[in-house]
Amino acid sequence: MDEFFTQLRDNHSDFTKGQLDDKVKSVDPFLLFQKWYKEAYERNCSEPHAVVVSTVNKELQPSSRIVYMKEFLEEGVVFYTNYESQKGEELFQNPNVSLLFYWDCLERQVRIQGKAEKAPSELSDDYFASRPRASQIGAWASQQSRAIKSRDDLEAAFLHFENKFDGKDVSRPPHWGGILVRPHYFEFWQGRPSRLHDRICFTKNDDSLGWNVERRNP
Ligand SMILES: Cc1cc2nc3c(=O)[nH]c(=O)nc-3n(C[C@H](O)[C@H](O)[C@H](O)COP(=O)(O)O)c2cc1C
Repeated sequence: MDEFFTQLRDNHSDFTKGQLDDKVKSVDPFLLFQKWYKEAYERNCSEPHAVVVSTVNKELQPSSRIVYMKEFLEEGVVFYTNYESQKGEELFQNPNVSLLFYWDCLERQVRIQGKAEKAPSELSDDYFASRPRASQIGAWASQQSRAIKSRDDLEAAFLHFENKFDGKDVSRPPHWGGILVRPHYFEFWQGRPSRLHDRICFTKNDDSLGWNVERRNP
């Protein structure tokens, strides 16, 4: 084994930046998420909107990748992607999804589980229109997750669509848009010393009216 990796074992630094009181149990998890996200943003956490999205395919193989949260709505979290990508195909076969945020500067982690669906097309149109033109063309040029012979082919596809839309607005590709994740589970994790972390978990009741809230062992 490379000697360098032996130092991984020696890292026993503690989490000391905060704590999570039982008081939060009475807060709506959507509001608590908003509060934590704003704090991460205001404290200049790196890329607080970066979120790990995990999908599970037909063979029950999980797969994770980072995307950017672009909307936080009353209904849930929205990110934008190619509907024909691996994640898109997996989500349409199996809408059960897990989202994971990690805000290092606050020693906080938020886990969300929910069901994914296509976001309303007006929302996707609206967001697509706000993107830089090159990203709009990129959405046409990239057959996300498909194999490609060479980088040159990707750049040729970009040029093709750049010419095609020359002098015109770039329309939203039908295979590109928002995914709305409707959460039914939130876990708020605050790192604490001696690995005695705080975890407060909200699970949506079956009647969908409220949340069952519990503290869990770290
Ligand atoms: C910081 C960061 C942000 C990203 N944001 C997005 C995004 O918003 N949408 C997206 O489709 N891919 C995004 N990606 C790329 C994905 O991680 C992934 O490579 C791509 O979506 C293909 O995933 P798939 O083949 O599993 O569908 C991002 C990657 C990184 C590292």
